[in-house]
Amino acid sequence: MRLNQKAVAAGALLLPGAMAWGSLGHITVAYIATNFVKDDTAAFFQGLLQNETEHYLAGVATWADSIRYTRWGRFTKNFHFIDAKDTPPTYCGVDFERDCKEDGCVVSSIQNYTSQLLDTQLWPWRRSQAAKFVIHFVGDIHQPLHVENVAQGGNGIHVKWERSELNLHHVWDTSIAEKMLGGIRRKPYDAGFNWAANLTGEIKTGKYAPASKLWTAGMSLEDPISTAMGWANESNAIVCTHVFPEGPETIVGQELAGDYYEKAAPVIELQVAKAGYRLAAWLDLIADSASGSTQPVAIDEL
Ligand SMILES: *[C@@H]1O[C@H](CO)[C@@H](O)[C@H](O)[C@H]1NC(C)=O
Ligand SMILES: *[C@@H]1O[C@H](CO)[C@@H](O)[C@H](O)[C@H]1NC(C)=O
Ligand SMILES: *[C@@H]1O[C@H](CO)[C@@H](O)[C@H](O)[C@H]1NC(C)=O
Ligand SMILES: *[C@@H]1O[C@H](CO)[C@@H](O)[C@H](O)[C@H]1NC(C)=O
Repeated sequence: MRLNQKAVAAGALLLPGAMAWGSLGHITVAYIATNFVKDDTAAFFQGLLQNETEHYLAGVATWADSIRYTRWGRFTKNFHFIDAKDTPPTYCGVDFERDCKEDGCVVSSIQNYTSQLLDTQLWPWRRSQAAKFVIHFVGDIHQPLHVENVAQGGNGIHVKWERSELNLHHVWDTSIAEKMLGGIRRKPYDAGFNWAANLTGEIKTGKYAPASKLWTAGMSLEDPISTAMGWANESNAIVCTHVFPEGPETIVGQELAGDYYEKAAPVIELQVAKAGYRLAAWLDLIADSASGSTQPVAIDEL
C-alpha cells in the first residue's frame, strides 16, 4: 500500500496548490475514481498510462500542474479554470460563450482532451497525455474558485489562516482540506489514499449514498461541453453560498480558519467526492467507447 519514496517526494516538491486544487485534492479525486471504475476501464487506463499498480490515476493526477509553468506547458495555463463573470454574492452564473477564453478554459479542455483520448489515430503518447489532462481538469472544475473571475479566482484576495497570511484561492485549494485531515505532513499520497477510502465508503453506503445516484445524471460523452458546464455551474453556485457569502470586499483580511472553515469544509468534502465519482463515470464512458472502436473483433467473439 505504501508508495515509493520517489513518488512521495515528487508530490511534496510541487508548489502547494499554487493555482489549482492542492495535490491532496487531485490525488484524492483520482483514488476515489480508481475505487469506482469498472475493471475494463482500469485495464484500459493502466495500459495507456503504462502503470499496472493501483496508483495509475493518482500518480498522474498532478502532472498538469507540474508542466503549466514550464516553457513547453505554458499554452495550458488557462485550461485549469473558467472565469465566470458574475457578481457574487447577489448573482452567480457561468456562461460558456461569455466566460471561456479564446484559447480555452477548463470546460473546453475537458472536451478537447476527451476527444483526443477517443481518437485512435493519435499516437499512444498523445492519448496518454490527454488522459492526464482529463484526470486533472475534472478535479479542477469542482473547485469553486476555478469557476470564478473575481480577483483571478480569489488569488488576489489576502486573508488570514491560523494567523498567517494566505490568498483565498490557496485556502480553497489546500488549507481547508488539509485542516480537515488534521494536517498531512507532506504526505499527500498517503493522506489522499486514506481520504479516498473514507469518501468511497460514504458514497457506497454512507451519507452520500442517496445523493450520489444523481451525480452522474445528464452526463454524456456526445456532449462534453454541456456535461462539464453542469459541473461548472454547480461549483460556481458555491461561490455565492460559501466562498463570498457576504461579498468579496468583506472577506479581505478576515481569519478564515474558524467559522468560515466550519461551513466550507463539508462543501469541499462533497466536491471532492463528486469529482472522484464523476471522474470514474467519465473514464468508464471513454473506455467503453474507445475499446469499442479499437477492438471491433471483440464483438464477434461475444
Ligand atoms: C505507478 O505509479 C506509481 C505512482 O506514481 C509509481 O510509484 C510507480 O513507480 C508506477 N509504476 C510503474 C511501473 O511505472
Ligand atoms: C487542444 O489540445 C491541443 C493539444 O494539447 C492543444 O494544442 C490545443 O491548443 C487545444 N485546443 C484548445 C481549444 O484548447
Ligand atoms: C469517514 O470519516 C469520518 C470522520 O473520521 C467517520 O466518522 C466516518 O465513519 C468515516 N466513514 C467511513 C465510511 O469510513
Ligand atoms: C445552474 O445552477 C442553478 C442553481 O445555482 C440552477 O438553477 C440552473 O438550472 C443550473 N443551470 C445549468 C445549466 O445547469
